[in-house]
Amino acid sequence: MKEIGIGLLGFGTVGAGVVEGLQQNGDMMAERLGVRPVLRRIADLDIESDRGVTVAAEMLTTDAAAVVDDPQVDVVVELIGGTGIARELVLKALAQGKAVVTANKKLLAEYGSEIYAMAEANQADIYFGASVGGGIPIIKALREGLAANRVESIYGILNGTCNYILTCMETQGQAFDVALKDAQELGFAEADPSLDIDGFDTAHKAVILASLAYGAPLSADKVHVEGIRGLHKADLEYALEFGYRIKLLAIIKRDGDQVEVRVHPTLVPLDSMLASVNGVFNAVMVDSDLAAETLYYGSGAGRLPTASTVLGDIADIARNQAKDASHRMSAVPRTGETLSVKPVSDVRTRYYLRLMPADKPGVLAQFTGILGARGISIESVLQKGDSVDGHVPVVIITHEALESDVDAAIQEIDALDAVLEGTVRLRIEV
Ligand code: HSE
Repeated sequence: MKEIGIGLLGFGTVGAGVVEGLQQNGDMMAERLGVRPVLRRIADLDIESDRGVTVAAEMLTTDAAAVVDDPQVDVVVELIGGTGIARELVLKALAQGKAVVTANKKLLAEYGSEIYAMAEANQADIYFGASVGGGIPIIKALREGLAANRVESIYGILNGTCNYILTCMETQGQAFDVALKDAQELGFAEADPSLDIDGFDTAHKAVILASLAYGAPLSADKVHVEGIRGLHKADLEYALEFGYRIKLLAIIKRDGDQVEVRVHPTLVPLDSMLASVNGVFNAVMVDSDLAAETLYYGSGAGRLPTASTVLGDIADIARNQAKDASHRMSAVPRTGETLSVKPVSDVRTRYYLRLMPADKPGVLAQFTGILGARGISIESVLQKGDSVDGHVPVVIITHEALESDVDAAIQEIDALDAVLEGTVRLRIEV
């Protein structure tokens, strides 16, 4: 049987998962594909530690470039992460016309244009299924299954760590730090936790999804990003009283020739499917013109689920090479149009506002007056009876309003003498 040689760069959690997955299901893959995937080399700076899988010692090397150059390696699997050496090695492999599989969302979000162009110029395959959604084949669904559709919107819970933290804060009343530590111990968090909790990991994934849905790779620095670090437990509780759950969402929405790409904590109605995605799970909801709403759910991170998607990409490449059809699919679709990212100040959505005034007569009227003067219509108001240190939280849910109007109203509200703490502003979607 024909073989396809795999060179693994990075022997960490996912790398070891790929080895385990191949050992477990390699024969079955060979049967399905008519090509046998064979692991030829593994590069890592640490070739001593036990990863829970057995590999021949001569397969291991600290010289990643030698793995890329090895003529026995047909597919380079980049699982190093980051944008330093990983970028160099990916470009080096593509320059040789070798197929590349990567799970590196930061690399694609920041250097996608360069990498896709290199793949194009050398007619090389680049697959990145595991960069978004771990074990969920959402990239494949967008690239292939939905190829006949115009995507209207994508809503994603794309970071297991954040979703785990939010679930623990809500259901167990856990403090933010305790829940984060748990997630780190479970092996879901990034080495730098700021990438998870400040929303950047989700933003990188949002850029990849938006590029697939709308063609041109979008620039990562145009994405509006707010994480969950500053979120108060009280807001999770008030949201529930109104019938919402707070999730860190990636929101990608087309509006004419503009596209909204934003990441922020978001109130989603309890009866929305996204509201029932708890713990480390991820979900992506795609609305498109022909298929209408489709939902993809599963493990968004972790050793074997992520390895499953990496191996799925290797399977595609094996099929392509067996039929002499490398580069049968461009990295990101061409749509013939260029969409610009809509500034967040132009976004129209509904808002949750928590105001913290002193308990004095007439304060509520001042708030409603300021909001009304800017055309911001109120849907419901909740005022907590008991004052805490002289504060009485007032929670307002608005109808759809323009973000810049809401910002200006909040500035005015926060400047009032009666307001003792900055207003909390969250958005409502789905
Ligand atoms: N840190 C990421 C998460 C890992 O928590 O979802 C998968 O990209």
